[in-house]
Amino acid sequence: MSNSKKLFSRSKKVIPSGINSPVRYYAPYPFFVTKAQGSLLWDADGKRYLDFCNGYGALLLGHRRKEIISSVLSQLKKGTLYCAPTELEVELSELISRNFHSMNKVRLVNTGSEATMTAIRLARGFTKKKKIIKFEGCYHGAHDYVLVKAGSGAAHNGISVSDGGLDEVSRNTLVVQYNNSEELASVMEKEKDVAAVIIEPVLANMGLVLPEKNFLHNTRKITSEHDSLLIFDEVVTGFRMSPGGAQQYYSIKPDITTLGKALGNGFVIAAVGGKRDVMDMLSPEGKVYQASTYAGNPVSVSAAIASVKTMNKSKNVLYPRLEKACKALVSALGDVASDLGIPHQINSVSSMFQMFFTNRAVTNYDTAKAADAVKFKKLFQGLLKNNVFVAPSQFETVFLSAAHTNEDLKKTVTAYEKALKMIKR
Ligand SMILES: Cc1ncc(COP(=O)(O)O)c(C=O)c1O
Repeated sequence: MSNSKKLFSRSKKVIPSGINSPVRYYAPYPFFVTKAQGSLLWDADGKRYLDFCNGYGALLLGHRRKEIISSVLSQLKKGTLYCAPTELEVELSELISRNFHSMNKVRLVNTGSEATMTAIRLARGFTKKKKIIKFEGCYHGAHDYVLVKAGSGAAHNGISVSDGGLDEVSRNTLVVQYNNSEELASVMEKEKDVAAVIIEPVLANMGLVLPEKNFLHNTRKITSEHDSLLIFDEVVTGFRMSPGGAQQYYSIKPDITTLGKALGNGFVIAAVGGKRDVMDMLSPEGKVYQASTYAGNPVSVSAAIASVKTMNKSKNVLYPRLEKACKALVSALGDVASDLGIPHQINSVSSMFQMFFTNRAVTNYDTAKAADAVKFKKLFQGLLKNNVFVAPSQFETVFLSAAHTNEDLKKTVTAYEKALKMIKR
């Protein structure tokens, strides 16, 4: 019996479903990880994988990037939690604010879920309105405000509204189709009580779905016309698409932004920030409450400072190189699938992509859901067999990191080829 199998049966006895986040499970059991370095992961049986899950996008710089590790090691010698302010927090917030021009003020939190929860509460406090609008398939974390027709693990496991969630809360979360400006305009016209529209500027939790031309600009315009705030959830896209995230990439200025993942490149940290007058609503000066014991903890903050500085320092090489590598990989994978006569679509932008098995363009929740998820499962298993780890769901994204070498990418094309041949059989 493999070590991962043994660990999973032990795990199932003490951890619900044997895993600590739903999307980590796949049948019959997930591999258990022992270590990671650069572009690689090792499992409990000593097998090595090229990692394209990359912490669901967090590890833009790859595993154990030296600048980050050395910054954290030096902080560890000075303490791990003070619960009193540090210069480090000021420095990180200044860095974030310099990269993201819409974020005049920033509050540091721990997870993306905390960041979106705070963003929404802030929008309600600021506008004195109650409802929010989200888009089908966008995932903003595991809390009641946004767990309505969400993507990621919720879509994968067929959960539209979570049991245990309050109807009273989800009734105030209106859902509109992604890439449908007309529907957004018409709902906003009817509903007079919308505090904010929250959006993933690139939808990375339904596979990868790109914003169509003008969709984000229309969303900005419509929210402004109705005195509602626009929240860009850049937990995935922040620092990944550019040093200033999707808002820099598409030249849009949201009112509130949430960051996570690549901000800490593998350390637990997230942020919420925005216009000065909105952010000043936060407690204790303002009346919108938010708090956390671990917020701004010096270990995560030192990791984030090193991450942001490393990304900024190398930005002229890092982002073009990742984009070029991703384009080349996607083009090679498309050729392989076409040569095998497998109907497919690949959506991609910057260092992210996903393959769908369908003839129709994938532009929203419905078209993503209509793709053949059984084939995707086979692709995932085939890739795993060939030492490539992507997220185990059609409704996730494949992420490149700075640690992937050209050799890694060549091996990946071969692994996809073998896996796609298995689908054909
Ligand atoms: C766009 C987006 N927002 C928010 C979240 C929630 O972040 P976390 O898992 O850190 O709570 C995620 C997580 O995948 C995400 O992809």
